[in-house]
Amino acid sequence: MMNARLAIVALLVASAPWMSVAAQPAAAETSPQSAPQPKPGAAEYAAHCASCHGAQLGGGVHAPALIGAQFQGNWAGKRARLLYSRIISTMPQNDPGTLSVQDALAVTLYVFTLNGIQWSGHTPSTPDDLNTLTIPAGSPSSSPAAAGSSK
Ligand code: HEC
Repeated sequence: MMNARLAIVALLVASAPWMSVAAQPAAAETSPQSAPQPKPGAAEYAAHCASCHGAQLGGGVHAPALIGAQFQGNWAGKRARLLYSRIISTMPQNDPGTLSVQDALAVTLYVFTLNGIQWSGHTPSTPDDLNTLTIPAGSPSSSPAAAGSSK
């Protein structure tokens, strides 16, 4: 009897490190800059948008930046759906109307993600999910990692 109890205690103690290891990936997800893991929408953006707007959304000779102060100035306070509509209706500028709904939604969310914008509790899976979301103003685009860890 005694030995069996000891064995159970030993098992519990031995399994404890597993728990803390399992908790690690969840913590890592909150710092988007830490690892070069592909983000949702990255492939679609690279295929349809990067040639004009730049690999890092910084813009180029052919198109404006989709990140930072310029993005904030144009979009803060507006409905998230508006950005989606703009993209699916007018982009890619040299071939508008060619994006599928899913691709347009994916690149829209990708632009939000790289601007440090997310809505806790909301993971939009259809364009209609964007109807009730407002693009927040003044998210600190300079250091999203620091902002995430101070939460
Ligand atoms: C052929 C070049 C080109 C491609 C490809 C392209 N864009 Fe654009 N985009 C532009 C230009 C030029 C403008 C500014 C003039 C205009 O609005 O048409 C623009 C404007 C925008 C704007 C408005 C920016 C603002 O702040 O007002 C958004 C958003 C945008 N593009 C997103 C995208 C997305 C997402 C893709 C990929 C699906 C994409 N674009 C592909 C050239 C391009």
